[in-house]
Amino acid sequence: MSNTPASKPFLSDVQTLRDRARKNLSEGVVTKTYGGDVKRTIDILQSVLATEIVCVLRYTMHAITATGISSEAIKAEFAQHAKEEQGHMTAVAERIDQLGGTPNFNPEGLASRSASQYVPVDSLVEMIRENLIAERIAVDHYRELIRYFGDDDPTTRVMLEGILSVEEEHASDMHDLLIAHEGNPPLEK
Ligand SMILES: [Fe+2]
Ligand SMILES: [Fe+2]
Repeated sequence: MSNTPASKPFLSDVQTLRDRARKNLSEGVVTKTYGGDVKRTIDILQSVLATEIVCVLRYTMHAITATGISSEAIKAEFAQHAKEEQGHMTAVAERIDQLGGTPNFNPEGLASRSASQYVPVDSLVEMIRENLIAERIAVDHYRELIRYFGDDDPTTRVMLEGILSVEEEHASDMHDLLIAHEGNPPLEK
């Protein structure tokens, strides 16, 4: 008789795992224990992908066009962020592919698929402020998604947790820059 508490999650034996893995090979990483709705996960990740692509475009544009006093250091920071957003973009696209979807890189409709916006700006302070707003949107969105995926899709959740921690750093960097260039309080305008 087993004395395993009833609340412990059920574990499949090795043979069951092996048998299951041999069936439905076309489903790739999506096995029977995938707790989420794969189609819904792919749809959500397409929107995350669009958000990251817009972030790459925005930071790249800002890194190239920022002008003014002390803009060199800020350009370098924008360029660094653009590179990190590109890493996120690639990771999310790869996850969509693993789940059997086709990552949507179509420029058509990109802005409406993305959670963050691409807002034209013409001053350094506006650039910083738009980046901070975009980062805050990403942070909010990813926190929600991490809770949504929970244990249903730990791989997607862990990927998003990694991305979230970088977005929080980005938000913090932009917040510091905004205070340095505009003074407190930074978000009142
Ligand atoms: Fe990102
Ligand atoms: Fe970011």
